[in-house]
Amino acid sequence: MRDLRAIDLCSGCGGWAVAARGLPIRIEVAVDFWQPACQTYRLNHPATDVHCADLRDPSVQARIEGLAAGVDLVLGGIPCEWLSSYRRLTKVKAAELLDPRLPGGLRQIEWQEAAALQGFPEDYLFYGSPGDVSLQIGRAVQIDTARQILRAICRAAELGPQSPAALAGVGQ
Ligand SMILES: C[S@@+](CC[C@H](N)C(=O)[O-])C[C@H]1O[C@@H](n2cnc3c(N)ncnc32)[C@H](O)[C@@H]1O
Repeated sequence: MRDLRAIDLCSGCGGWAVAARGLPIRIEVAVDFWQPACQTYRLNHPATDVHCADLRDPSVQARIEGLAAGVDLVLGGIPCEWLSSYRRLTKVKAAELLDPRLPGGLRQIEWQEAAALQGFPEDYLFYGSPGDVSLQIGRAVQIDTARQILRAICRAAELGPQSPAALAGVGQ
């Protein structure tokens, strides 16, 4: 099977790109308007052309549409804060994030622990201030879950889009 050519929109620090490692997917272009996340992406995925730009800007849209012509797969980490009810419903206070079960007693998890929970490899390089790094990790897709989705897409692509088995593969 040939590699699927992909574009990664609102790419953050590269969660989808890590999930795609080892699969027949080549992410050619990534776009995000947040400089530290773009730098992290570049450090870890040097083969991808990373554009630090605002996708709301029509000139950026035109440029990216040109670069994305003919891609097989559009990955997107569209921000969900505006529709997520998590904060409103839970009203979590900082103190409630402390957990006595952690090694070292009552404390918040470190960014390295958060990165491991999200599925980032230990040697993944993060660019930016501690606050920037924590945000990049928190905003990323959970990588094991993302890999399952990408595997299903690859299976479906192998079978062909008209196949009922391919559709079932994507829906899993
Ligand atoms: C949920 S995060 C994506 C995380 C990414 N998929 C990952 O796994 O690392 C959403 C990203 O969208 C970016 N973003 C939000 N609005 C944007 C815009 N108008 N143009 C480009 N990027 C934008 C944010 O900077 C943030 O990194």
